[in-house]
Amino acid sequence: MAAGIGCSLSAKSAEELNFAEHDVLSRKLAKSWNRYQERSLLKKAEPYWKRLSELPCAPNGKTPVWCPLETAIVIKACPPGIALERLKKMENARSVIRVHRLSHLAIPKAVLQGRYLVEQRLPISLHTTKSQIGLYIENQEKFTKAARNLVVFLSQSSLDDITGNHDIYASLTAVEIPRYDNVPLYIENNEGKIGLIDLEHFSLKCDSSLYKACKLAVLMFPYHMKDILDEADKINPAEMARTSSELKHLSEQTIEGFEHIYGDHKIFIAEQEIGLENPFQGIKIAQDMSKTVAQIITARIFTNDRFKQEFFPDGMKEETQSAVEAAVLLFIRDLESFLNNDLTRLSRRYHSVGSFPELLSA
Ligand SMILES: Nc1ncnc2c1ncn2[C@@H]1O[C@H](COP(=O)(O)OP(=O)(O)OP(=O)(O)O)[C@@H](O)[C@H]1O
Ligand SMILES: [Mg+2]
Repeated sequence: MAAGIGCSLSAKSAEELNFAEHDVLSRKLAKSWNRYQERSLLKKAEPYWKRLSELPCAPNGKTPVWCPLETAIVIKACPPGIALERLKKMENARSVIRVHRLSHLAIPKAVLQGRYLVEQRLPISLHTTKSQIGLYIENQEKFTKAARNLVVFLSQSSLDDITGNHDIYASLTAVEIPRYDNVPLYIENNEGKIGLIDLEHFSLKCDSSLYKACKLAVLMFPYHMKDILDEADKINPAEMARTSSELKHLSEQTIEGFEHIYGDHKIFIAEQEIGLENPFQGIKIAQDMSKTVAQIITARIFTNDRFKQEFFPDGMKEETQSAVEAAVLLFIRDLESFLNNDLTRLSRRYHSVGSFPELLSA
């Protein structure tokens, strides 16, 4: 077998290679294929066991997740007993994917080594909430199958870790923000996919609420309302007839939140004439905006009794407030040049920026 063919094959799972379940020979082939993949994951991990703490770590998650630069694996340290449980849950979730042919949901191949899980590393390059929302907004048409797959998957299972974390963007939206650290979006071979990388809170459930499944799908893919309803309608039309108007309302609210989190920032940088060709150009704070901010800060300072007693125990002259306002204005200018210097430093670190989601989360 040519080396190139071996490489591209080894990245595929048995489900992707479509071994027929009913056929004994195919089942045997699938089994040996899985064993081969597990051995190859362990071989890739071999050079790292003695120097795990030197490896780069994933930016989120309670568990340390080490990501060696040279090879596409991650090594997860799990508390005792948890690694095996996680592996079993991944296998159960994989069976839902296999039975329903949900090709746009990806569960990384994984193998146990003591209390560590060695997993195939999915090509997730954008990690923050803003960049994930941006990835979806900028590539909506590529995520249609993923949105439909998610409805089917969640209608068969319970996955409680998709929402519920505190997110720094929570104040910009009226609805829950998906946990992109657990169910990240990514694009592979021009197709939008969801990585099911944290199935710690997964369980199989045939009586799962379809409404709850759709709600989670809408929170991730609000522009795919029609596809979500269409897919759910195939499962239980009566339930959908009862709940579709609530879901439509949820999708409107979610879109509004996405626009605040990602869209408004994109408009802001367009106004600043910043784009992919000049990603690190300095930002200008408009004069009237600087003045308003200076007035607000000054007013805050002068309503602070402790400040007044400390600095002006005998009362203050009328012109003091405008002198402070002028000083605050100068401070805002300094801040502007500090931020711009920071951007120049960043531009030395990154040679180029390939997309708006990447630029807006840099
Ligand atoms: N197979 C994988 N491929 C690529 N990145 C991964 C993979 N598994 C984990 N990561 C990265 O590591 C992070 C943490 O992983 P994971 O969610 O499994 O850890 P955790 O500690 O169980 O999380 P939590 O805090 O939700 O309990 C993910 O958000 C992702 O950035
Ligand atoms: Mg997690």
